[in-house]
Amino acid sequence: MHFAIINGPNLNLLGSREKEIYGSEPFESYLDMLAEQYPEAEISYAQSNVEGELVNLLQFFAEECDGIILNPAAYAHTSVAIADAIRAIAVPVVEVHISNIHAREEYRQTLLSGAASRGVISGFGLDGYRLALEYLLRE
Ligand code: DQA
Repeated sequence: MHFAIINGPNLNLLGSREKEIYGSEPFESYLDMLAEQYPEAEISYAQSNVEGELVNLLQFFAEECDGIILNPAAYAHTSVAIADAIRAIAVPVVEVHISNIHAREEYRQTLLSGAASRGVISGFGLDGYRLALEYLLRE
């Protein structure tokens, strides 16, 4: 089984960015641990700060993978283009947010991409990516 994790803007700064919200672990070391824990899953990883590139990545990995784990970061709240891309592809997309967006600012309460996704996991830290993978492996 082949899965892709796609991270959106500013998530390249995990480990140093707002540690009190997002923790102090860089995504790359978390990803190494995840790959070790799930040898049955081939996991591709991409990150982009650019909205259109995230659309391109969704379209690309839809052809390559059995499922996609997407953290669109701030674009989750604004991007019709990413929501449309999720609706346009056939593979299941699970949206992950590291923080509990429901406990945060009003402007984070709208999830355009989340509404287009199979489901949304929010508030479990980096473990949310593993929970999403567990779901996709059972799909
Ligand atoms: C985030 C939540 C978003 O609201 C925020 O813009 C991010 C990260 C999360 O993983 O908790 O950049 O997607």
